[in-house]
Amino acid sequence: MTSTFFIPSFNLMGAGCLKEAMVTLRSRGFHKALIVTDSVLNKLGVAARIQTQLATQQIESAVFDGTQPNPTVANVRTGLALLRQHGCDLVVSLGGGSPHDCAKGIALCAANGGEIADYEGVDRSAKPQLPLVAINTTAGTASEMTRFCIITDEARHIKMAIVDRHVTPIMSVNDPELMLAMPKGLTAATGMDALTHAVEAYVSTAATPITDACALKAVQLIVDNLRTAVAHGDNLQAREQMAYAQFLAGMAFNNASLGYVHAMAHQLGGFYDLPHGVCNALLLPHVEAFNVLTSAARLRTVAQAMGVDVQTLDDQAGAQACLTAIRQLALDIGIPKSLSELGVKEEDIPLLATNALKDACGLTNPRPATQAEIENIFRGAMVA
Ligand SMILES: [Fe+2]
Repeated sequence: MTSTFFIPSFNLMGAGCLKEAMVTLRSRGFHKALIVTDSVLNKLGVAARIQTQLATQQIESAVFDGTQPNPTVANVRTGLALLRQHGCDLVVSLGGGSPHDCAKGIALCAANGGEIADYEGVDRSAKPQLPLVAINTTAGTASEMTRFCIITDEARHIKMAIVDRHVTPIMSVNDPELMLAMPKGLTAATGMDALTHAVEAYVSTAATPITDACALKAVQLIVDNLRTAVAHGDNLQAREQMAYAQFLAGMAFNNASLGYVHAMAHQLGGFYDLPHGVCNALLLPHVEAFNVLTSAARLRTVAQAMGVDVQTLDDQAGAQACLTAIRQLALDIGIPKSLSELGVKEEDIPLLATNALKDACGLTNPRPATQAEIENIFRGAMVA
């Protein structure tokens, strides 16, 4: 089997690396950037800070702060109009997964024309997007370094998965100093998103020795640091380790892809506008319980990476220990316990399952599921 490994060509990590990123941009000859962010980061003055830093590198900028938590087709359209109005030759995304995804949509359409919905699926665009520099302020989605772009189609109430090598940013920036202000709930949800990336990539049918190494190291770092990052948000060391963890998980899933957790979580996000990481955290043990039939040995290894002593456990028992460890971590960091708690309705499950089976992320799940099986997984996650 052949495999390809995608990653931005330039990735800056660690406390204080934002400054270095700005200096690096000077030599690239950009004139005007569109900063894609959300209203919270703009109000906090973080976007203005980036504008000032860009200005010192002779790069002018305009700000689009209209990204919603689950970015929409309309968000992309509005941002694209602003980019054209200002004649920008660079896009800078500032935030977590939502601004990065929205920025990818804008940059891809800027270079290829049309609407973002034209690129739903795998590698549908003809040309690389406008150069994108992704400055990350959360630790989980890894969107700052992936070829995944998730945009909500408001008309169809679904999240579109655009998996396209051309949406890979040219540079990713993970400066944990920008992550210190993340609230507890967001830290927990994004951290569980990263864990889901690692686990889904590790059991994926497209896993390789490279993605395996990234996934297992990510799991270990998440288990060692997520509780501290949630409980003590000002702990720079835990924040930095989580930044590395989510980046490693991103390296894993950007190349091994994902599974049904994401395929199903996307539907919950698109239908009810729920937080991505929370949906993943709730679905992860249920989907992996379904995957035990094909992937018990791999799940046992995940348990080991989570710090479980698996020496005396066979594959089945090891896999069960993995599910228990995932549930315990979610519990410890205050993730809600059931989908019904989030307002998910029993009567919507058949439609959610139908759409989940169309999501490109499910293609590499190790155990193929029927419509009825996906519905049952949703129903299992409805109760605590
Ligand atoms: Fe995710």
